[in-house]
Amino acid sequence: MRIAVIAGDGIGKDVTAEVVKVLRAAQAASGLPLDLIELPYGADHYLATGETIPPEGYARLRDEFDAIFVGALGDPRVPDNRHARDILLGIRFELDLYVNYRPVRLLDERLCPLKDRTPRDVNLVVFRENTEGVYVNVGGRFKAGTEDEIAIQEEINTFKGVHRIIRHAFEHAKAHGLARVCMADKSNAMAQGHALWQRVFKEVQAGYPDIEATHLYIDALALQLVRDPGQFQVIVTNNLFGDIITDLGAALQGGLGMAAAANLHPGRTSMFEPVHGSAPPLAGKNVANPIGAVLSSALLLETVGRTDEAALVERAVQRAVEANTLTPDVGGTHGTREVGDFLVRQIRGA
Ligand code: NAD
Ligand code: IPM
Ligand code: MN
Repeated sequence: MRIAVIAGDGIGKDVTAEVVKVLRAAQAASGLPLDLIELPYGADHYLATGETIPPEGYARLRDEFDAIFVGALGDPRVPDNRHARDILLGIRFELDLYVNYRPVRLLDERLCPLKDRTPRDVNLVVFRENTEGVYVNVGGRFKAGTEDEIAIQEEINTFKGVHRIIRHAFEHAKAHGLARVCMADKSNAMAQGHALWQRVFKEVQAGYPDIEATHLYIDALALQLVRDPGQFQVIVTNNLFGDIITDLGAALQGGLGMAAAANLHPGRTSMFEPVHGSAPPLAGKNVANPIGAVLSSALLLETVGRTDEAALVERAVQRAVEANTLTPDVGGTHGTREVGDFLVRQIRGA
């Protein structure tokens, strides 16, 4: 089993160091082989060499590794974010990782910013379309920098892209015995592109008569997520809306430091990363919360079939929450490394 590890920038490096410790502990517990191969891509590498990711990098990641772990990318020294686009979005696009799977699971009620909400009320998954929408970067700027500037950023919606993410959401619901799937779009205003979402959602839901299919405009969904998150089990939406509502979902779990994500193409090499970014002001200070990253590595283990190790890691995280061995962003007093050490001890002692 070969895992590519790209720590990236800022707190990506801090949290990835803990992920590596946790994965090695899980590996020691199972005795199964696990090679972690660290790759240097990130702002430092880009600024030193001019290379974001080499041209053959995507094919190598796809063909030579079983999975990819990414910490976070984004650095103030690269204001146009070029390296992050090539590395993070590049991996999503070039490996055709069309499912961005972001579970929203509250581990303890004290972490939720809403009143009187328990883990039972905040337990849903978001499927974010991950290969098209506004992220394709189709468009251009005309008369840039003048008062006549025209800036165009197109949103691309294809039948194939919309169909495969909606179908994936229903298949997930079916496989996990879930009763409801909610699709969110903005078809009241975006009457061309999102008419396709409406059409495909109706076509796909017909194949799942036992699953209740509902629709909300994305603005209304944002309100409902705060008002009553318990009504949702599976949400499916486009790339941009999924980005936004999964930060909201992270807040429901205690903050960005708690939220995990998987970028999947079922059956192929997939990529795992926390929902949060590189948080430059926190970098290198031993304060970043490693739990979102660690839970993302549990998704990795589960996806590659190492379910026992995934369960060990998840149980260790649950114990850290119960013991309040957590970083300050979620009410703890511990450092990034101390949380990682606690997780390792739990896995060793399990
Ligand atoms: P961010 O997620 O880095 O930070 C947002 C807020 O959450 C900050 O207050 C930060 O301190 C806090 N936070 C985030 N993760 C945390 C953690 N693990 N522990 C404790 N606190 C945490 O988002 P931003 O500030 O909008 O972006 C910073 C950079 O990261 C930008 O360059 C952005 O493009 C990039 N980014 C990258 C990814 C990714 O690599 N997947 C995701 C989001 C943002
Ligand atoms: C995320 C991030 C990225 C996105 C950025 C860094 C391009 O916010 O993974 O949620 O918008 O997808
Ligand atoms: Mn985001």
